[in-house]
Amino acid sequence: MDKLVIQGGAPLSGETRISGAKNAALPLMCAALLTREPLALSNVPHLRDVTTMLRLLGQMGVKVSRDDRSGATLHAERLAEPLAPYELVKTMRASILVLGPLVARCGEARVSLPGGCAIGLRPVDLHIKGLQALGAEIEVEQGYIAARAKRLTGARIVMDLVTVTGTENLMMAACLAQGTTVLENAAREPEVVDLARCLSAMGARISGAGADVITIEGVASLHGATHHIMPDRIETGTFLAAAAATRGRVSLHGADPAILDAVLEKLREAGAELESTKDTISLAMKGRPRGVNVRTAPYPAFPTDMQAQLMALDAVASGAATVTETIFENRFMHALEMQRLGADIEISGNTAVVRGVEKLQGATVMATDLRASASLVIAALVADGETTVDRIYHLDRGYERIEEKLAQLGARIRRVN
Ligand code: EPU
Repeated sequence: MDKLVIQGGAPLSGETRISGAKNAALPLMCAALLTREPLALSNVPHLRDVTTMLRLLGQMGVKVSRDDRSGATLHAERLAEPLAPYELVKTMRASILVLGPLVARCGEARVSLPGGCAIGLRPVDLHIKGLQALGAEIEVEQGYIAARAKRLTGARIVMDLVTVTGTENLMMAACLAQGTTVLENAAREPEVVDLARCLSAMGARISGAGADVITIEGVASLHGATHHIMPDRIETGTFLAAAAATRGRVSLHGADPAILDAVLEKLREAGAELESTKDTISLAMKGRPRGVNVRTAPYPAFPTDMQAQLMALDAVASGAATVTETIFENRFMHALEMQRLGADIEISGNTAVVRGVEKLQGATVMATDLRASASLVIAALVADGETTVDRIYHLDRGYERIEEKLAQLGARIRRVN
């Protein structure tokens, strides 16, 4: 199993390029299921989750061609079987995103229930309730969600809590429903907006994406389109946090500062100097960072997907800070691993109190999920001596060529197996 071996202590310095967003790419690939015509995506990141999704779609009969850069064309002219089997869903929860498009296009779908995962229970009840409101008959049997509908019909759906993939699933399904759907308490994440942009290019009638009420007027069919995937805001934030923790100076190209306000604000509070143009963010951290309090919440507040990385920054900052996680109930596994590197972190319920230490010391740590592993890489970059981060297949799910990009910025990092 691959590991990363990191020699800490070198400030990150230089420039690198941000990839396309994982959490935009995954729903966008599923949108291809909604039409018989090809959907051509560019800026598709090379990631394990993207490969898994392409495999899942391929099994259903979607023809996939990738060019040697970052383009992928998905053509769902004929669909073999509207089935997402347990073997694939268990490795990637985002597989649930095929449910809405499949019911809308094929009138039926069988998708394995995702089950729990390392960061919490993560039920999909709101996806199911929403589809039922659109007229789908749904049974959960033998670990599978079996959905059926002749044609979905538009409805007003008020979601109990803000769910990103839930909003995306229902928005995709509603595109082909008869009549108008109104999604209330919808997720406002930029990835939802990117999906709406692509669906609109495919002929969908959507308004309000990016606000908490989205209105979708159903159409009889969608057509092919081309779409450039938005930059990955979490990859951007991760590199910025790493640069800040190592007291470095970096410029990230191909990024979008407009969707990172909450993260940039926290980095500024920690003492970073930040400058942005339309698609570049530069950060310089001159002294020791100051500890900053963070509380995660749906967009536009501070993202849960950056919580672990900010905790790594707080771990070496001056002063004490609190990190509160409000989205997932079990997203502090990285704190225990950081303690192995000498971090002073105390957890009580959904809050971690982080007392910054002058120095972390290298050790062997284990990645437990994607963002936890990113935070351990940051901690390793500042630790004295050598750190081995084990189980980095989690990292490969969501960070394209991370060790190459970090090495380009001067990190002493190598992959071993
Ligand atoms: N929830 C329910 N019922 C549902 C759906 C969600 O109770 O039917 C709960 C979840 O258990 C959680 C909260 O609602 O407590 C919010 O979860 P959400 O549905 O928004 O999460 P998600 O759509 O499954 C996406 C990202 C995650 C990111 C979250 C929150 C994708 C593919 N995944 O997940 O990304 O953490 O939104 O922003 O978009 C990651 O990239 O590392 C990652 C985990």
